[in-house]
Amino acid sequence: MCRMGADTMSDPAQAALIALLRKRRRRMIGLMSGTSADGLDLALVDVQDSRGGPEFKVRAVETLFYPSAMRKCIHDLMDSAVCEYETLVRMHYRWAEFAAGAVRGFLRTRSIPAHTVDALASHGQTVAHYPVWKPFHGGGSRGTLQIGDPAVLARLSGLPTIGDFRWSDIAAGGTGAPLSGYYHHLMLSRLAKPGIRQLPPAVLNIGGMANISISRGAIPKLTVIAFDTGPGNCLSDTMMRLWGKRSYDRNGNLAARGRVERTTLTKMLHHPYLRRRPPKSCGKEEFGAQFITRLYRNAPKNSAALADRLATANELVACSIAGGQKWLGKIGGVVVTGGGRHNRQLMERIGRQFAPTPLISCDYLGLPGDFIEAIGFALLAHETLAGRAGNLGGATGGAPAILGKLCLPR
Ligand SMILES: Nc1ncnc2c1ncn2[C@@H]1O[C@H](COP(=O)(O)OP(=O)(O)O)[C@@H](O)[C@H]1O
Ligand SMILES: [Mg+2]
Repeated sequence: MCRMGADTMSDPAQAALIALLRKRRRRMIGLMSGTSADGLDLALVDVQDSRGGPEFKVRAVETLFYPSAMRKCIHDLMDSAVCEYETLVRMHYRWAEFAAGAVRGFLRTRSIPAHTVDALASHGQTVAHYPVWKPFHGGGSRGTLQIGDPAVLARLSGLPTIGDFRWSDIAAGGTGAPLSGYYHHLMLSRLAKPGIRQLPPAVLNIGGMANISISRGAIPKLTVIAFDTGPGNCLSDTMMRLWGKRSYDRNGNLAARGRVERTTLTKMLHHPYLRRRPPKSCGKEEFGAQFITRLYRNAPKNSAALADRLATANELVACSIAGGQKWLGKIGGVVVTGGGRHNRQLMERIGRQFAPTPLISCDYLGLPGDFIEAIGFALLAHETLAGRAGNLGGATGGAPAILGKLCLPR
């Protein structure tokens, strides 16, 4: 009796699960929101097994910006002085509900039937990140927290969902971030790279934080160096939110009118994170609002003073990215991804730091630069379903690990 009951309940679900695991081609949707918490990036990606790692085609992309109250709430959750448990737990559910709605809308507007999608790959929304190992209550600990529960997302979207990628790397002894090194490798190894053939290019992603990666060799002898260089857009975004009544400095227009405050820049550059060797990753814990308010006790007197502060913050970003070069070895170019590449003033400062090494926009290589992370997590989830590790190359310090947790819709 008991066996019959189990069979009638689980057979179709079990068959679907086995079929999902056995597939060699999958249609995935990657979902990503970084520390900027500007919105949810979605990428529909067809992925296929191939020698040397999966091949992929990006079919559609979209960003669903967070409503401004939700964005503020998420930024508050990232600030340990303001975060409340009830809001945190409720947002863990609401983010998943928001993402499920985003997936449904994304498919509906493109007339793509949901049953043609194999699985969702959800990074979630990072609200806290403590990657450094510390003695803790008689043992040791490190950790990270991405909200947006994958079980809720699976149930509400009707699609198998892989989430919580970073914990698998942490469990394997890694820092949990950045995981971008391996998927940057998978992406670049498929591309013709005009003008950067002699030496491997680094990939620089400028989101809320900035990370850089470089890979050499191929599986099974792949080596990847990838680490957060420090802040990305988060400093100028926070300044604009605090003092500019805007969420970011569009195209870097205001920063372009400012002058770098050298004394403050020197103080900023003393941050111990910037001198630490990789593997390393950072977050709002190091470069949040308190980093800014400790340096600037008062609001700027006028927009010229705000422009100087923005120029100084962008100079810190450029210097800290360039400072990371010493851990990369020789590079043939820097492929730039993420929202920061729209900030012309910031890109000009970074370009100066790297000259004569060229900066190359990711879009020039045929990849949509605002969606690299969403595409990347779709690739990692495909690897997970195939039973392959997603943190190869050793960048985080973790042993090879199959990343994430699989949640089923029923
Ligand atoms: N036109 C633009 N000009 C200047 N900055 C921009 C522009 N568009 C986006 N950004 C910056 O990019 C950020 C979002 O980048 P994104 O790659 O999504 O970061 P994250 O991964 O942290 O969410 C915004 O918060 C903003 O700082
Ligand atoms: Mg974003």
